[in-house]
Amino acid sequence: MERTFIMIKPDGVERRLVGEIIRRFENRGFDIIALKMLTMSRDLAEKHYEAHKGKPFYAALLEFITSGPVVAMVLQAENAVTLARQMMGALNPLDAAPGTIRGDFTTDTRKNLIHGADCPEAARREIALWFPELALDS
Ligand code: GTP
Ligand code: MG
Repeated sequence: MERTFIMIKPDGVERRLVGEIIRRFENRGFDIIALKMLTMSRDLAEKHYEAHKGKPFYAALLEFITSGPVVAMVLQAENAVTLARQMMGALNPLDAAPGTIRGDFTTDTRKNLIHGADCPEAARREIALWFPELALDS
């Protein structure tokens, strides 16, 4: 079984989509291994998005992601990383297919409701960052 890291972004919490998003993963058959709600510190946000440091949208991304509470979770299923990315939908709203979370609920490139680790290596890194107590058995 594979584990992935998922985060419902501040717009998802503000729009009361937490239940809807978790329901989709549960319906699909993912197990929730860990879950918590918090407002990201600047330090955590910089570590989480370190791959984007220096990009034109980086400052706006950090501003948004620290603007309110997020719901972070570790989900488990066969091929969890790839399946969760499919269920999230693409970053470009024109490519986010109907039936995906982004494709059904947003047209915005920044306020796009959900983050998901984009490969197994990123999942391990993000789980260790957010849930260090789980890092040993993932
Ligand atoms: P995440 O799961 O949040 O990492 O989204 P992603 O993997 O689909 O996209 P990516 O990692 O390329 O970008 C991370 C986040 O930065 C996106 O979710 C957006 O919030 C933001 N972002 C990326 N590209 C752009 C851009 O061109 N413009 C703006 N405004 N934001 C961007
Ligand atoms: Mg990404």
